[in-house]
Amino acid sequence: MPSPIFARMLRATERGAFPRLRRAGWKLAYTVISGAWRQPRWRFMNYGYIPPGPPFVLDAAEEAERAFIGLYHQAVQGLDLRGAALLEVGSGHGGGAAWLARHTGAASVTGVDLSAATVAKARALNRDVPGLVFRQGDAEALPFPDGSFDAVVNIESSHCYGRMDRFVAEAARVLRPGGVFTWADMRSPAMLPALDAAFAHPALERLDGAELNDGVLAALDAMEAEKAAEIARQPAFHSITREFAAMRGSTLRGALERRQTLYLARRFRRH
Ligand SMILES: C[S@@+](CC[C@H](N)C(=O)[O-])C[C@H]1O[C@@H](n2cnc3c(N)ncnc32)[C@H](O)[C@@H]1O
Repeated sequence: MPSPIFARMLRATERGAFPRLRRAGWKLAYTVISGAWRQPRWRFMNYGYIPPGPPFVLDAAEEAERAFIGLYHQAVQGLDLRGAALLEVGSGHGGGAAWLARHTGAASVTGVDLSAATVAKARALNRDVPGLVFRQGDAEALPFPDGSFDAVVNIESSHCYGRMDRFVAEAARVLRPGGVFTWADMRSPAMLPALDAAFAHPALERLDGAELNDGVLAALDAMEAEKAAEIARQPAFHSITREFAAMRGSTLRGALERRQTLYLARRFRRH
């Protein structure tokens, strides 16, 4: 049965209502999820993406996380990030930042997350990766000087923010001229005008964009059995956990299938 708490949060997010309360609610939600989720192999907190076509190349040790890595792979596909300074905003448990550090040839990767508990977990789970650091910080007030990075990556995090336009302005501010801002997240069709308005920053030029729903649904299918086993191991709150995990029959899963929720990707270059 769909959880009314999750459905309300989703609707408030979709309407853009109560920005400060929503920010605080999502921060609490991810802090709780971060503490409760004991699955040691997964260093990701996203819904995943399996792209069409032949599978992309991964190390054997990364295969278990292929579906989650897919969102990062599509985010940087075709970009030359060798020697770059990368910033991931909303880095969660750090699996994506670690994959970027290992596979893009970047000189450094910095992961920032609002939740201190999540940052602590990211550090513990990824301490073996050279050139990778995590720090606590807010997407709407990034703790870096102007022009610090060559690329800003933002995966499935911005639905939590109070003011998307503030985050976009911050991403543009911390990028060097020529730097790339690569974003992916969910929005309802009704929110697209507000999303376009937030991205209409004078320093950003749109490079490309895509709708990822089919690949996200494929990833949800691929991970359904493993997630179900993990949820069964949790002591309580199974119905809300099923909602957060977008399991079959959940509110979000249905909305993605019916395109009432769109999983979108967009890339921009800073002038
Ligand atoms: C769904 S998780 C995705 C994590 C990671 N990008 C991944 O794909 O595994 C969203 C993350 O965004 C973080 N977050 C939410 N609001 C934030 C904010 N204002 N600034 C920075 N991070 C934020 C949450 O704490 C959470 O770790």
